[in-house]
Amino acid sequence: MSQSKVAAHKYQDATQPIEERVEDLLSRMTLQEKADQLCQSWVTDFNPNNPQSANAQRIQPTYGSYVYFIDVPARNGVQKIAMEQSRLGIPALFGSDVIHGCFLTFPIPLAQACAWDPELVRRSCSFAASEARRSGTDWIFSPMIDVTFDPRWGRISEGYGESPYGVSVFAEAAVKGYQGETLDSSDTAACTLKHFVAYGASEGGRDYSYTDVSPVRLWEMYLPPYEAGVKAGAAAIMSSFNDLNGVPVTANHYLLTEVLRDLWGFKGPVLTDWDSIGQLVHQGFATDARDGLKFSINAGIDIDMVTYAATNHLAHWVQTGEVSQERVDESVRRILHLKFALGVFEHPYVKENDKISPERRNEGEKLAEDLAEQSMVLLKNADNVLPISPQTKRIALIGPLLADKSEVLGSWRYAAEVAQTISIEQGLREALPANVSLKTECGCDFDDDKRDGFAAAVELARQSDVVILCVGEKATMSGENTSRSSLRLPGVQEELALALAETGKPVVLVISSGRPVELQRLEPKMQAMLSIWQPGTKTGSAVARILFGQCNPSGRLAVTWPRSSGQIPLFHNMHLRARGDGDQGAYKDISTTPQYEFGYGLSYTTFTYSPIVLKFTTVKPGGELMAEVTVTNTGKVAGSETAFWFINDPVASITQPIKQLKHFEKAAIPAGASRVFKFAIKPERDLTFRNGQGDSILEPGIFNLMVGGQKVSFSVEK
Ligand code: GLC
Repeated sequence: MSQSKVAAHKYQDATQPIEERVEDLLSRMTLQEKADQLCQSWVTDFNPNNPQSANAQRIQPTYGSYVYFIDVPARNGVQKIAMEQSRLGIPALFGSDVIHGCFLTFPIPLAQACAWDPELVRRSCSFAASEARRSGTDWIFSPMIDVTFDPRWGRISEGYGESPYGVSVFAEAAVKGYQGETLDSSDTAACTLKHFVAYGASEGGRDYSYTDVSPVRLWEMYLPPYEAGVKAGAAAIMSSFNDLNGVPVTANHYLLTEVLRDLWGFKGPVLTDWDSIGQLVHQGFATDARDGLKFSINAGIDIDMVTYAATNHLAHWVQTGEVSQERVDESVRRILHLKFALGVFEHPYVKENDKISPERRNEGEKLAEDLAEQSMVLLKNADNVLPISPQTKRIALIGPLLADKSEVLGSWRYAAEVAQTISIEQGLREALPANVSLKTECGCDFDDDKRDGFAAAVELARQSDVVILCVGEKATMSGENTSRSSLRLPGVQEELALALAETGKPVVLVISSGRPVELQRLEPKMQAMLSIWQPGTKTGSAVARILFGQCNPSGRLAVTWPRSSGQIPLFHNMHLRARGDGDQGAYKDISTTPQYEFGYGLSYTTFTYSPIVLKFTTVKPGGELMAEVTVTNTGKVAGSETAFWFINDPVASITQPIKQLKHFEKAAIPAGASRVFKFAIKPERDLTFRNGQGDSILEPGIFNLMVGGQKVSFSVEK
C-alpha cells in the first residue's frame, strides 16, 4: 500500500507502533492465514512473466516467506502475488544463504576467524547485507555459529572455529554487521543465528547425525555463541537438524522455549532448517509430518521451512485442541513483527538495478583483500624461503588450484561473481616484475588418480629456482553434506608434492581447503606451507602479496589442526587425562599432539612476550584484575600479533578444560617496537563455569592465566 493512500486499517498505518500494528493485523487473520504465515516455501526459477512456471505450485499469496532468492524480478513477481492476491496483503519475506558475501565473495567464515579481527567480520557482513538486500534478500541465513572441532564435518568451513568465546565474539560482530542500526534499510537485513544447537557435535563428523552432548558441555561449548548472538540483537534463529540426546532440536522444548525464551528472552522467530519437521520421521520422533508439526510447534518452532506441514496441518491441531490458538498467535506475532521491523509493509518491492555505489564496491574489494590476507596462516617457513627473494628469476607454479577461480570461493557462494575472482596465477603474474619467469604445469587434478601430468611438472620444477604448489579441496568438498572420513588431500596431490620435493628444489605448498587437511607426510618435505583456506574473490592478489612479502602473514588457527583424522576429537580446550599429559593414555602409534595448535601461525618477523604483570595476585568477586604483557617485534619487518589470553581453573567442583580462551587482541607492531596488551579480568565474566542447568558458578581458589607461552597464577578470594 503506498503511503499516499489513507490507511484503511491500523496495521497499514506506518505511524502506529509496531506492537499495535501486529495486534491489529493478527485480529483480522483467519486460522489458515495464520498457518500460511508460518510456512516458508522455496522457489528457484519463478519467472514473473510466467506465473505458471514449474515452481508456481510453491507460490501461494498467503505464504509468509520464501527461501532462495537473489533475483529482483523474481522476488518482486512473487511479492506481487502476496500483495495483490491475498485478502490482507501481507508481504512475504525472502531468505537466502549469504554466508560469506553475496556477489563479492569474502573468505569462508573459518578463514575469517583466523584473522582474529571482529571489525573485519562486522564490515564484511555489513557489505554482504548491502548487496543481498538490494538484490531481494531481506532475511540472511547467517551467521553460522556452530562450535566444532571435527574437521571430518564439512560444515567446519562455515563457522568461526572451536573456541566458544571466539565464536561468541564473531557472532556479535556478524549480527551488528548484517543488521546495523535498523532493519528498515536497503543496506541491512535480518540475520539468523544458526544452527541452534550443537550441530557441530555430529557423531563421527557425519552430517545430520545424532549428537550426544552432556548438559555441562552444552552450556560450556555450544550455547555461549547463541547467548552472545541473542544479546547482540539477532532477528531470528534457525534450529538445527540434529537429534540432541534423544530429542531432536526441532522438537526440543527445553532448548526452543525454556532456554531461548524463558532464560534468554529471545523475541524473534525460530525457523526450522530445511524440511526438519519432515525429518523427525527419520529420527524416530514422529510417525508423520503432521505429528511432527504438533511436536515442533508445541516445542517452540515458529516457521516451517519447506515441509509444508504448517500450512497443511496446523488448523487440524488447533481444532483438536492439541495446539493452542495462543501458541499459534505467538508464532504469527514474531514473523509479523519482523516484517514490520524490516519495513516490507511500506516497501514490499525491491528497486531493480539498485546496485551499491562504485565507492562502496571499491571499499568492499579492499576489505575482501584485507580479510583474505589476514586470514591466511603460515604453517611452515624453513630457512625463511618466504617471502620469495627478489633474486628469484624462475618460478614454477604447479597444482590443480593454480589458475582456479571457483573452488577458492568455497561453499555457499551461489551468487558469487566467479569471473571476477583473481586466481593465484593471475595474482602472481600481476605482482611479478617482467624479468621473472613464471611457468605453469597443473601436474594433476583435484581428485582423480591420473599421474600423467607428473613428469612435466617435475621437469618444470627442475628448471626453476622455487616451486609454488597449489593444492587443496574443491568447494564442494566442504560445506553441507560433505563429511569425509579422512583429511588427506584428495586424489594424488600428495604424491605430486612428494615427487616435486624429490627434485631438491624448495617447494612452497599453498593449501586451499574448507578444513584442516592431513600434512604429516608433507610437513618434512615442504620448505614452506601456507594455508589460504578459501579466500574468495581476491584470492590471487592476497596470495601474491604474502608470497612476495608486501604483506606479512598474521593468520592464527581458529581450529586445532590434527595430524590425522584418527586423533579426532582433538581441541585446545580439552580436559586433562586422569594420568596427566604424559605418555599414559597417549596414542602409541602417533603423537597425541596436533600438527598445529589452536592459535598457531607464523610471521615473517618474530615476537617475544614479557612475563605477565598482574596488578594484584588476588581478586574479589565483583572486582577486576588487570593483566598486562609486553610484546616486542624482535624481527626486521613490521607484523601483526594476536595475544590470546587463556584461563585455567585447575581445581573446581566441575572439572574444567586445560585452558579456555577468554580474551584476544590483534595489533600491528613495527619492527623493533613493543606494545602492551591488556586483559581486565572480571571474575563473574571470565572465571565462572557453567553447570548442566546453565548456572554460572564462581568458585574461590587459584586460577592460571596464560598468554604467549607465559603463565602466572592468581587467586579469587571468598
Ligand atoms: C540447508 C542448511 C542451512 C540453510 C538452509 C536453507 O539445509 O542446513 O544452513 O540455511 O538449508 O538453504
